Amino acid sequence: MPHTTPDPKPDTSRLIIFDTTLRDGEQSPGASMTRDEKVRIARQLERLRVDVIEAGFAAASPGDFEAIRAISSAVRDSTICSLSRANDRDIARAAEALAPAARKRIHTFIATSPLHMQMKLRMEPEQVLEQAKLAIRYARKHTDDIEFSPEDGSRSDEEFLCRVLEAVIAEGATTINFPDTVGYAVPEQFGERIRRLRERVPNSDKAIWSVHCHNDLGLAVANSLAGVAIGGARQIECTINGLGERAGNTSLEEVVMALRTRHDYFNLAVGIDTTQIVPASKMVSQITGFAVQPNKAVVGANAFAHASGIHQDGILKARETYEIMRAEDVGWTANKIVLGKLSGRNAFKSRLQELGIELESEAEVNTAFARFKELADRKAEIFDEDIMALVSAEDHAQ
Ligand code: KIV
Ligand code: ZN
Repeated sequence: MPHTTPDPKPDTSRLIIFDTTLRDGEQSPGASMTRDEKVRIARQLERLRVDVIEAGFAAASPGDFEAIRAISSAVRDSTICSLSRANDRDIARAAEALAPAARKRIHTFIATSPLHMQMKLRMEPEQVLEQAKLAIRYARKHTDDIEFSPEDGSRSDEEFLCRVLEAVIAEGATTINFPDTVGYAVPEQFGERIRRLRERVPNSDKAIWSVHCHNDLGLAVANSLAGVAIGGARQIECTINGLGERAGNTSLEEVVMALRTRHDYFNLAVGIDTTQIVPASKMVSQITGFAVQPNKAVVGANAFAHASGIHQDGILKARETYEIMRAEDVGWTANKIVLGKLSGRNAFKSRLQELGIELESEAEVNTAFARFKELADRKAEIFDEDIMALVSAEDHAQ
């Protein structure tokens, strides 16, 4: 029995965050995770208030199937999704794995670019179109939350895409996900393409449009945001730390903080609890063994560090001078000023106060500051322990 007809006009005032760390993220060579590790990450994604968690690809392996099933039982607040190719066997397996979920989504895909259809699938376009329709029809027997992706969408022919997308919406697909599978897109063109497709495909407003970008040219975040701002997409598919095939996927932390920090521009509500971002990043990094580069936006160790004296002075006077986000808003426990040879007396004195070190007079501060500068000439970064040692050496010298 098909499920009830979905709302013909979905809410477009909010943006859905679809996390695929456990599916596309895991496709990153060397990033495989055990079932229990995936459940831990899924629980953290739930704390982060991710709308949809793509928990795996049920037909890919018994391990993936078990992980999706375990996550479907463990998580109650987020929708749980399984990927499946556009065939009955994969879809049935996805439905079985998702059975315990409070809310479930089947995400089915088939390639639509000439290259993929000819060389990989060895199918004619008409066969691909027919298979896509049948897949949605079959998936509708299991759930009314169905996502369809025309794989290699950014290299597919627009006329053909229009026909496929019209057909799958007519069959009941509720999310149309537009993938830049090989990270080939550039932002404006990508956004324009989605805008045109939404304009041309009949009944396009019956579905939420989504973007799924890869980072081969370092443009995944920019392309995703262009898909939203220019194209009108209202779901972004992304991963923690940008983990994913080859150069990775769109980073969750970057798109979320861009949407939040520049709410004046995007004007879209996002349900993420941003204070859970850094804990999620650390957990994924620790489980996969993939270190986060220090200068990575939002979650890198240096993302909120200020090394130049002028910047440190500015931050101490008003944080907004050099900070567009608050470290504590993304889950860092404290804003971090790195003390080194470029640091000024003000920053040094403020650190003394944070460490509870009270020097009697300004003259003592000056002497300690001079010793600090000597040390900083020999050592790139001065840690709290160095300052404590330096001040207690001062005590002994007196
Ligand atoms: O990159 C891609 O095309 C995918 C699809 C399965 C959505 O991951
Ligand atoms: Zn992908």
